[in-house]
Amino acid sequence: MENTKTKNVALAPHFTPDEPSNIAAEAQLPVRKSIVDGFAGYRALLRRINDLVLSGMSLPFFQPRDGVSHSIVRRQEKTLINYSGYNYLGLSGHPAVSAAAKNAIDKYGTSASASRIVAGQIDLHGELEERLAGFLGTDDALVFISGYLTNVSVIAHLMTRADAVIYDSGAHNSIITGAKLSGAKTFSYDNGDWDELDRIMQEERGGFRRGLLVCEGVYSMDGQILNLPRAVEAKKRHDLLLMVDEAHSLGNVGLTGRGVCEEFGLPPSSIDVHMGTLSKTLASSGGYIAGDSGLIEYMRFLCPGLIFSVGLSPPDTAAAIAALDILDREPHRPKRLRDRSRYFRKVAREYGLEIGGAEESPVASLIVGDDKDALRLSKRLFDQGVDVQPIVRPAVSASTARLRFFITANHTEEQIRATIPLVARELEAVRQHDV
Ligand SMILES: Cc1ncc(COP(=O)(O)O)c(C=O)c1O
Repeated sequence: MENTKTKNVALAPHFTPDEPSNIAAEAQLPVRKSIVDGFAGYRALLRRINDLVLSGMSLPFFQPRDGVSHSIVRRQEKTLINYSGYNYLGLSGHPAVSAAAKNAIDKYGTSASASRIVAGQIDLHGELEERLAGFLGTDDALVFISGYLTNVSVIAHLMTRADAVIYDSGAHNSIITGAKLSGAKTFSYDNGDWDELDRIMQEERGGFRRGLLVCEGVYSMDGQILNLPRAVEAKKRHDLLLMVDEAHSLGNVGLTGRGVCEEFGLPPSSIDVHMGTLSKTLASSGGYIAGDSGLIEYMRFLCPGLIFSVGLSPPDTAAAIAALDILDREPHRPKRLRDRSRYFRKVAREYGLEIGGAEESPVASLIVGDDKDALRLSKRLFDQGVDVQPIVRPAVSASTARLRFFITANHTEEQIRATIPLVARELEAVRQHDV
């Protein structure tokens, strides 16, 4: 069969700056008709790609890489200082984690082969859930095959039309999608504007039965750390349930990386639904929820994302357990990550750069302005040995395109010192429009 994909720009956006004219021609004239040609979203995508290619820019998305995504990464035969991956504690590629995954494959194969509710589960599933619950201090935990799916399916299953889901302007797409699918009312407030949340709840609380307030431990776009005491106060004041997504705070926030409860000295029971991903500090793939036994039992038997989907793969499960082992044994790793995040911001300030987020947050965003400037800056840094991804629409609003640096415990101070002056210089060049 003819491989039409290679001809379709939207599906193969690996342009090189050397061939803009061919690409532009291809972008304007897709060689095969697609069932989505008439879809407004697809047409808008093609227009954006054309626009970029015609301005001589290359797309940085879906670029191949070699090897493990550490503080350095190999791309296009180049070794780059890497800020594009959230291997926060350096555990992906850690020999003990890789060995655990390989052993699990030898013992159980590569797939869980069916949904756990029908086909049963391997001992590793129960072990990981017990370990997560123990680490977080909850009754129980439940693992899903994707972090994204965890939010979508748990929120959509927990809330119904009579209820409401309340989230803020920094909420991850998986939270918003879960809220929409639930059929519940949705309310949104500006991230950190607790007074606005109070005002909305004072007006609206009478109009729904249960309310689920969903926050993030560390916000994935702007890097703020959740003010958990204030979220708990809002939960109590307005009689809400509180769910906290700790995708970016597990293994990082709190003295030993147990997340926002540890950071603020609050009991784990102050959060009703703990949620997190295995793909970041735990060097694996998948998601979890943790909480009281009833919640977990309810989800284990009825949550569609769990019962109608395959169990977490044996290597992914084993990798997450091995990562938790290391986290237990080596509590200096979360501390080093927080130190590096602080150091990054300190050096950035020396060079006049405004980096968003809390001092100790590993998500460090530099707002650049529009999409093209962010793409340009990312490309110029790539050419000089720094890999940092631009974040553009629709992930962020049109005027807040940015470079998002993921800082990891493995970044050295030298790497950070080498990066920041380059960023400052290239940002200035992009702002002066001399590029
Ligand atoms: C806050 C947040 N929640 C959920 C997810 C989804 O997790 P995963 O990528 O592991 O599916 C992400 C992904 O980056 C995230 O940032």
